[in-house]
Formats: sequence, C-alpha cells, structure tokens
Amino acid sequence: METKSEIIQVFTFTFLAFILMAMVLILFFYYSRKKIVAQQLETKNLEIAHQKQMLQTVIQTQEAERERIARDLHDGISSKLNVVSLNSHLLKTPNLSDAEIINITNNINDLTSKALENSRQIAHDLFPPVFDKFGLKAGIEELIVEFKSTNKFEVSFSNELNLDLLTKEQQLNFFRIIQELLNNTLKYAEAKQVSIKFIRLSKCNALIYKDDGIGFKNSAIKKGMGLTNIESRVSFLKANYLIKTSPDNGFEINITF
Ligand SMILES: Nc1ncnc2c1ncn2[C@@H]1O[C@H](COP(=O)(O)OP(=O)(O)OP(=O)(O)O)[C@@H](O)[C@H]1O
Ligand SMILES: [Mg+2]
Repeated sequence: METKSEIIQVFTFTFLAFILMAMVLILFFYYSRKKIVAQQLETKNLEIAHQKQMLQTVIQTQEAERERIARDLHDGISSKLNVVSLNSHLLKTPNLSDAEIINITNNINDLTSKALENSRQIAHDLFPPVFDKFGLKAGIEELIVEFKSTNKFEVSFSNELNLDLLTKEQQLNFFRIIQELLNNTLKYAEAKQVSIKFIRLSKCNALIYKDDGIGFKNSAIKKGMGLTNIESRVSFLKANYLIKTSPDNGFEINITF
C-alpha cells in the first residue's frame, strides 16, 4: 500500500517538475523573443533615422545649389542685362555724338558677351555638356583638366570597364562623387598625386580614388555635406564603400558595385 502512495508521490513530483520546467522554458523563450524583437525594432529605428538624415542632406544640398544658381544668375546675368538695358535706352538720347554712340554700343556688346559667357558657365556647372554628349569617361577627363589647372596636384586616371553600360543617372552619380572627392583633395589634402581607377574585381567592379595628402582620423571626423552626399549616392548606386585614411597617410575610398 505504502509503495503505491510513494509511486503516486514520485509521479506527482515528476509531473510538477516537468510542468515547472516547461513553464521556465516558455518564459525563457518568451523573454528572449521579446528581446530579439526589441533589438530588431531598435535597428529598424536606427536605419530610419539614418535615412532621414540622408534625405535631410539631399534637401540641404539642393537648397545650397539653388542659392548658388540664384547668386550666379543675379550677379552674372541679371545685373549685366540691367546695364545693357540702360545703355540701349541711352542710345535714344537725342544729339549723341558718334563717339558717344560707339562707346555705348561697345558697352552693350561687351556686357552681352559677358552675360552669354556666364550663362554658358552656369549651364555647364549644372550639367557638363561633354558629359551629356560623350559620357562619363569624357566627363571625368574634363574634370581632371580643370583640377590640374590649379597646379596643386597631378591626377592619373585609368579605366578598365565599359562605363557606357551604366545608365545616365548612374554615370552622373559617379561623376558627382569624383567631383566632390577632387574638391575635398583640393580643399584639405595638400596632396601631390591623385589616382582615379575603375577596375574589374573577381566578383564586382570598383572605383578606387586615392590621394597622398594629410588624411584624417576617420573616427573623429564630422562628415559634412560632401561625404554624406557621397554616401547617399553610393546607396543609390546599390554599391558599397570603404574609406581608408589616417593622419599623414593620405585618403582612399573604394566603391564596389
Ligand atoms: N581628401 C581629404 N584629405 C584630408 N581631409 C579630408 C579629405 N576629404 C575630407 N576630409 C575631411 O573630412 C571633412 C568632411 O568632408 P566633407 O566633404 O563631408 O565636408 P566639407 O568638405 O567640410 O564640406 P562640404 O563638402 O559640405 O563643402 C572635411 O572637413 C575634411 O576635414
Ligand atoms: Mg567636401
């Protein structure tokens, strides 16, 4: 009789122990699942914040660009056309001497050709015509000539890809990235040599940009609009990028696509 109740007791304890274990397991899974979901949520939130930040930069860049164009139009064209208009009214003045007429027409000619030159320059800055007609490679070559003319550094450029396979929009993104990189090298690097290469790797293609300037401490730098813009262009290109730089060791960026 006693053994029977002992068996029942043992059975009950084992059963309770199982229930307890099952409850502990369920609680454990429940809480770890909750933690994972919280972590996923946090990563998503960070991603959204990052995207917001990039969008903000794009808008800021657009505003800065508009401001610059407005300034160029105002100083380079409107003000000149104002004077042209004034001068052409002057031509209506009665009894002008020949010399005065020549003087006024010379003024008008001079100012209209300057306004024309400025409008060409503004259009060129907005969208380089060589780029439109001859593509990215020619665009980069022209950019290099412009930067070389500052006599600050040498630039070498090599390309083993068929860049014409990229869409116009992709080409424009690469063009703007290289333009900003060259700008930064000019502004900060004190470099002697820049190298720009499009190369084929085993599984993908890469753009490698290098200068031999003063570099910077990557962890300490506050990204400006330039680098943030590059980042959003890289993400538009569905590419990846890696910056290698440290004080006195130049600057290098690898963009794989
Ligand atoms: N090639 C380089 N050599 C040395 N320092 C660099 C180089 N490129 C960038 N930097 C440093 O990184 C910082 C951030 O560059 P970024 O292009 O983002 O902003 P910025 O050039 O200061 O401003 P913006 O591009 O908006 O005119 C620069 O202020 C500079 O200190
Ligand atoms: Mg910059």
